[in-house]
Amino acid sequence: MKSLIVSAALAGLATAQSLPLIPLPVSVKTQEGAFDFSVATAIRYDRSLKADVDLLVSELKALTGTAPQTGTEEQRNLFPSEIRLDVDAAADLPAGGYQLDISPKTVVITGKDSAGVYYGTRTILQLLPPIGDKAWKSSTPKKLPALQISDYPRFAWRGMMLDVGRHFYPPEDIKQFINWMAFHKLNVFHWHLTDDQGWRIEIKKYPKLTSVGAWRDSSPPYGNRNADDGQRYGGFYTQAQIKDIVAYATARHITVVPEIEMPGHAAAAITAYPELGNSDIPGYAPKVMTRWGVHPYIFAPKEETFQFLENVLTEVCDLFPSKFIHIGGDEAPKTQWAQSKTAQEVMKRERLKNENELQSWFVRRIGKFLESKNRRLIGWDEIQEGGLPKTATMMVWRDAKWGKHALELGNDVVMATTSHTYFDYYQAPAGAEMAKGKEYEAIGGHLSLETVYSYNPAFIAANPAQEKQILGTQAQLWSEYFKDMKKVQYMAFPRIAALAEVAWTPLALKNYNAFSTRLDGVMKHYDGGLVNYSKPVPPAKRETKDGGTLETSLGIYQNHWPELAFDGRADTFFWADRALRTDDHLTLHLKTPLAAATAVAVVTGGPASTNGDTLAAGVLEASADGKTWTKVADFSAGKSSGTAPTGTGHLRVRVSAPQENWLIVHEISIEGK
Ligand code: ACM
Repeated sequence: MKSLIVSAALAGLATAQSLPLIPLPVSVKTQEGAFDFSVATAIRYDRSLKADVDLLVSELKALTGTAPQTGTEEQRNLFPSEIRLDVDAAADLPAGGYQLDISPKTVVITGKDSAGVYYGTRTILQLLPPIGDKAWKSSTPKKLPALQISDYPRFAWRGMMLDVGRHFYPPEDIKQFINWMAFHKLNVFHWHLTDDQGWRIEIKKYPKLTSVGAWRDSSPPYGNRNADDGQRYGGFYTQAQIKDIVAYATARHITVVPEIEMPGHAAAAITAYPELGNSDIPGYAPKVMTRWGVHPYIFAPKEETFQFLENVLTEVCDLFPSKFIHIGGDEAPKTQWAQSKTAQEVMKRERLKNENELQSWFVRRIGKFLESKNRRLIGWDEIQEGGLPKTATMMVWRDAKWGKHALELGNDVVMATTSHTYFDYYQAPAGAEMAKGKEYEAIGGHLSLETVYSYNPAFIAANPAQEKQILGTQAQLWSEYFKDMKKVQYMAFPRIAALAEVAWTPLALKNYNAFSTRLDGVMKHYDGGLVNYSKPVPPAKRETKDGGTLETSLGIYQNHWPELAFDGRADTFFWADRALRTDDHLTLHLKTPLAAATAVAVVTGGPASTNGDTLAAGVLEASADGKTWTKVADFSAGKSSGTAPTGTGHLRVRVSAPQENWLIVHEISIEGK
């Protein structure tokens, strides 16, 4: 595919869909010819773009080995070969938009603003050979196909959330991650900095948040979430490191939105300062958590807590220029508030009917404080449970209906639903991933590249006004099962590419097959950048592994054809579409009869994520002629294994008692086949 793309581009025959660009630009007009990019290509720029140019120079140097010459627009003489970067605030483009004009003579990027220019340079980098590619060893000019692109983002919020509470990643890893976000024109890095299992941001006024709250005594090992490795674990970002990361992101036109969780997911903070919790309840003993899941320790709704949180948020606002400050708000169990006399007194004093209203009161108060700092509050969708504060923006994660509710109330939303954006879910079926090793463990679920791609974050909008309230979308990287950045990358890539196109490209231009083809080229950039991405799994084919055939008395659920029970793949399976009756069967007609008695086995029931559809009562049978059958073995716990006699030409799974559950046949295995 790659060589075809290149030769098409060289011949001046490139089409938008054949160029390795993700996200796909709004408009691409290809032309004859190409621009020769080489170390002699200089950058000529509008003065206002100095910072962007410095960055581009370092990026081109990393590719070619030589820093390109630069000059400002005012400079009289042209370079013999140049890329021009201009800003035109009057251009007929939305914010972040750009025009890219590549002709055999010159390359011109005109941005609506500096972000637009930057996105234009990302497009050029995607069109050049990847970093580390052997093409860069040769001085032969690299061809940039002649074209005209006019491009701008669909949504203003195009984000990735990274949880560093469950696992900590060194600053250099965070920067590398941000750089790859920029590669795909993403622009919001939502940094989940605090959780029950660790507080990761230095706060000068409260040193124990990191000396105590950044450390836990143990973590679950890969492969057993109910066990303890007994290893002390922790880490945090100093304020100097945070400033450096924010500057790094800002240079790449990425806003860092910090998240400080409240009132729940606060066990680490409460362990550092136990007086901030509901200390009047029986058995109060906060501890930095060593297991995943939802935990009961939540901030007490008292004055000392608000003083503390306002002081923390003051330092947070000093570090992060982001207009939005995320205050969490998800999964805050109300059990401690129900038990606490202090919390109950606050409810009485404020005339709050229940603990959910107490959370909304809490959020409203923090929202007012953030407004006093000229910031906007954003929180997970539970913040509406006791009434949604008017000025709050809601990050919708559970069900899109909460987003609809917020739109009706006039609030803004960011769509981050589990259905399409939870990158902590498996990319391939759980069984197939876990078969690769314990370190492939994920929280559960299955979110394929194609499902991510199919997302339309605006589907809940009832009218154009509501559509405007949808700021955008982002993917979530909850890190319980990501012990290092290598695993983060494995879960994030290439789904990040699908998300980028969801967030940037007009809905009408999206096409999964075309995206997949462009992804082939983009994955070469991941290879060059040594990104540990998950190779997309080829779609299942309705073919057995040896040309044998299958038949069944059952209906077929979706595309889970009978052939998938004998295709040799761990990630595919036959799935019947109804309850089972006695004598229902799945029969394999072998291509050639067995020349000797052979071990055979059948596994029914889905991979771990499917939870069932196991055969409760059945028998595995063999036949030479397909008419008379002999028993090989019964099914027990959904499995059957035994020896099929010499001459077996047919094997069948026969149901011996009705069952309500449907049937999954994962694979029929025959030794030596
Ligand atoms: C969440 O997944 N608890 C926002």
